[in-house]
Amino acid sequence: MAQLWGGRFTKSTDQMVYDFNASISFDKKLFAQDLRGSRAHVTMLASVGVITDKERDEILSGLQSIEEDVKSGKLVITSEYEDIHSFVEANLIDRIGDAGKKLHTGRSRNDQVALDMRLYTRDEVDNTSNLLVHLLGTILSIMEENIDTIMPGFTHLQKAQPITLAHHMGAYFEMFKRDVLRLHDIHVRMNYCPLGSGALAGTTYPLDRMKTAELLDFDGPTLNSMDGVSDRDYLIEFLSALATIQMHLSRFSEEVIIWNSNEYRFVEIDDAYSTGSSIMPQKKNPDIAELVRGKTGRVYGALMSLLTTMKGIPLAYNKDMQEDKEQAFDAIETVQNCITLFDGMLSTMTFNKDVMSESAKKGFTNATDAADYLVNHGVPFRDAHGIIGQVVLYCIKKGISIDDMTLDELKAISPAFEEDIFDAISMETCVNKRLTVGAPGHDAMESEIANSKKFLELWSK
Ligand code: ARG
Repeated sequence: MAQLWGGRFTKSTDQMVYDFNASISFDKKLFAQDLRGSRAHVTMLASVGVITDKERDEILSGLQSIEEDVKSGKLVITSEYEDIHSFVEANLIDRIGDAGKKLHTGRSRNDQVALDMRLYTRDEVDNTSNLLVHLLGTILSIMEENIDTIMPGFTHLQKAQPITLAHHMGAYFEMFKRDVLRLHDIHVRMNYCPLGSGALAGTTYPLDRMKTAELLDFDGPTLNSMDGVSDRDYLIEFLSALATIQMHLSRFSEEVIIWNSNEYRFVEIDDAYSTGSSIMPQKKNPDIAELVRGKTGRVYGALMSLLTTMKGIPLAYNKDMQEDKEQAFDAIETVQNCITLFDGMLSTMTFNKDVMSESAKKGFTNATDAADYLVNHGVPFRDAHGIIGQVVLYCIKKGISIDDMTLDELKAISPAFEEDIFDAISMETCVNKRLTVGAPGHDAMESEIANSKKFLELWSK
């Protein structure tokens, strides 16, 4: 047991208590952030004269050697230490002696861990955003290739009106675009440095918090030391953004699963992204999409967990906050893996364009346009709606589409039909007449794609 705080105690910690309290098994993930924070802290301490330049240099080279030894495997982070902060400090003192004992001057583990977690989160916010930008690129190339690929659009999972594959993909582009913007907002809002908040009430040393903030690429220091050590809002915001990303991925996965089913056959998932059955030789299962959908639960769970952990905590730091880590780490890794795998699955998926357009034709998706045709020929909309209802019923009985009817058959239901009805209700006409902003018509999609391209250019580094 290596602890930083034995002085006040007359008995050693019970082993179970030690294990229950320790966080090294998971906060070792913050090793790089802990070093970075300590480097900034001692650089600042020397600049305000709290330690000498010589002591600073000794500490910096001690930290350097610890980093190298951990990287090379010579030094292992073990559960002999309570947490990552104790690990670094104990090893530093071991290596450089008295100067090492000055590392923690004007600092508490409370502001130290607040900083480490914030540095970690800030990087992962950006990493997640980069993965999303890559996924957006995949979606955009499908849009560009399928501006004229007709498919049925659904409401209530019933065929509704014809759209294009580009239009359908464009909806997901918008969702993930908002996710990228949300992450950006979080980065901006969280970008303040808690180091220097001390245990809760700042410190009596003349710390230059502006300098530490600057060294760590923050926009400035946090402005209240009690809030500085006990704010986890930024992590809740990130988990909420991750939950939203995962919800989007899950909806998309659900569609891929439906589209890939034997009944739909709109898409075929590549062999590299499918799995087989141990008993049924004919099976090719969409396991990746199902797992992405399934993992949504644990990501939502992480958000709910932290919200609940935080809700009863009085100011300032309380040990409850140690619980901010494990599930957050898991949620971050889960969502990032899901984005990457979904991206790979999507970019290798085959779209059965003929099946899609045939499905649009077969599902009376032009019924609204047929009613609009009658309206344009002087029939009031409510009457037109009723007439097309009869037309559809007639077709269902005969097992045909509206397009398969003869003009005589149509005229028998309403004399308002003319020869031009067939052109008016072709799938191409139905789609391409929809030209309002955001609609699937060819020209409207061209400008949607141009906007999407601009967004990607701006956000791809
Ligand atoms: N392991 C702790 C955490 O993750 C570090 C801070 C400990 N501070 C304290 N006063 N015990 O929150």
